[in-house]
Amino acid sequence: MPDSGPAMTNAILIRAAAEADYPAIARLQQTSPEAAQWPVGDYSGFRILFAVLEAEKGIPAGFCAWRQSTPDEAELLNLAVSPDYRRRGVASSLLKALAREAAGDIFLEVAEPNEPAIRLYEHHGWVRAGVRKGYYGSGNVNAIVMQKRP
Ligand SMILES: CC(C)(COP(=O)(O)OP(=O)(O)OC[C@H]1O[C@@H](n2cnc3c(N)ncnc32)[C@H](O)[C@@H]1OP(=O)(O)O)[C@@H](O)C(=O)NCCC(=O)NCCS
Repeated sequence: MPDSGPAMTNAILIRAAAEADYPAIARLQQTSPEAAQWPVGDYSGFRILFAVLEAEKGIPAGFCAWRQSTPDEAELLNLAVSPDYRRRGVASSLLKALAREAAGDIFLEVAEPNEPAIRLYEHHGWVRAGVRKGYYGSGNVNAIVMQKRP
């Protein structure tokens, strides 16, 4: 018989972010220097998915920001998971939710040295579509453009 006590799960809940989440988004950004560092006000035109951990009283664990650029093309703009909650499937849950919500191809840019993120995206079906030379920093870091078909 399974234990009939209170259910303790590691469920990752995904929901749309509201303005009340902006301070948590700012904190998540700060703990992830590899992510884009934008003033939170800049997120107002984007769609934001927020990941919270059910078993830890709704602790904000990660977020992603995206936009539907055209009816059949979407763009993942930013993604960060708190270092405390990595390798637990938080980013994967966000990317699965993004794939359900977005229409058409999903494009993103990632810094060439950011191998963890590139592996994550490849794991979820993104493929390399091109290189933007000198896109980041003072022109010495390439961006890999990646694309996921529906
Ligand atoms: C990249 C990042 C979003 C991954 O988040 P995460 O919640 O730890 O990722 P997941 O647990 O969903 O990982 C899923 C898979 O991605 C790959 N992956 C994730 N992190 C990895 C790492 N550090 N090294 C190698 N592979 C990695 C693995 O295949 C992993 O599956 P596994 O754990 O079964 O091996 C997180 O490390 C992060 O926030 N980094 C800083 C910000 C950043 O780089 N953002 C992307 C900007 S383009």
